[in-house]
Amino acid sequence: MAGLTVYYDKDADLRTLNGKKVAVIGYGSQGKAQSANLRDSKIEVILGLPSTRSRKRARKDGFESLSVPRAVERADIITFLFPDQKHKQVFEEDIEPNLHEGQTLMFAHGLSVHFGLVKPPDGLDVVMVAPHSPGVVMRRRFEEGRGVAAFFGIHTDYSGHARNIALAYAKAIGCTRSGVFETTFEHEAVGDIFGEQTALCGGLTELLKGAFEELVLGGIPPTNAYLECVQQLDLIVELIKKNGIAGMYDRISTVAEYGSYTIEGRVINDKSKRAMRAILKDIKKGKFVENFMKDYQKGSPDYLKKKAKQQEHPINHVGEIIRSKIKD
Ligand SMILES: NC(=O)c1ccc[n+]([C@@H]2O[C@H](COP(=O)([O-])OP(=O)(O)OC[C@H]3O[C@@H](n4cnc5c(N)ncnc54)[C@H](OP(=O)(O)O)[C@@H]3O)[C@@H](O)[C@H]2O)c1
Repeated sequence: MAGLTVYYDKDADLRTLNGKKVAVIGYGSQGKAQSANLRDSKIEVILGLPSTRSRKRARKDGFESLSVPRAVERADIITFLFPDQKHKQVFEEDIEPNLHEGQTLMFAHGLSVHFGLVKPPDGLDVVMVAPHSPGVVMRRRFEEGRGVAAFFGIHTDYSGHARNIALAYAKAIGCTRSGVFETTFEHEAVGDIFGEQTALCGGLTELLKGAFEELVLGGIPPTNAYLECVQQLDLIVELIKKNGIAGMYDRISTVAEYGSYTIEGRVINDKSKRAMRAILKDIKKGKFVENFMKDYQKGSPDYLKKKAKQQEHPINHVGEIIRSKIKD
């Protein structure tokens, strides 16, 4: 496909990272997995962490762990693997004052750079390797000799080697085993936020809850509604992942396939697409990130209210019952 550039192991050279020290900032989902993969690829890793609690955890796993400022001072590559909403403050207070010319800032998501929360100074490479999976899956696959796909992008190539550094890093964490797709910080940030809101996380759960509610209102027992609308989701997702949407339709019953074609435009229609367009506009203009950051700076009251409402939905309780009854 025009414009699609994908890199694999053969396109990256781990020797690019010879003698370079990586400071991984954060030891959560991505931090733990990437640190372990880097170490197994013989790359020198130190952890930069804010609390004695997380430093202790990293030390227990055999890593040298320091405060964020000390780790930044000593590193050649600084990887941002802590929550995106904290990037601005940690960058301004702990990272920026300790940077020196020639270092590389490495991101796992384009959000904070594209939306201006982190404004990198001149004299640095700024790159992104954004894995398409949670850390535990990335680590498990790495140990199995496999990898997870990722996006990669170059924001600033100060050294003239930024591309080689980013690709070598992607190889060290296992992503070039699977495929690394070239993109920009903007496209990764906007696409990722829109995708998770309207399709993968927000859109999907709205659809599942809506279908569950209507079935229950229509007199079907909640447990049946859950089993029909939610519990079998992984089977369909697996078929789509392996065979595409058309391939999934080839593998389900004709009743399911024909029925799905007949409702086209009734659930997702022009109105829903206009809503998606408005959501995309808000994301592109930075309105979503601005609201997210404003709420975070106030202690996240809106986030916590919405989370509590989400947790109270009966679908969660019914799901617990179903999971307790099914033997895996
Ligand atoms: N999770 C994913 O599946 C995924 C996938 C692709 C990309 N990403 C991207 O990867 C990055 C990291 O996400 P994540 O989900 O791995 O984060 P996370 O698990 O929520 O990060 C938690 C870690 O961040 C540390 N941390 C908290 N405040 C900090 C501070 N002030 N300074 C330094 N470290 C701090 C925590 O230390 P304490 O325990 O001491 O608080 C903890 O070690 C993000 O940019 C995200 O968008 C995530």
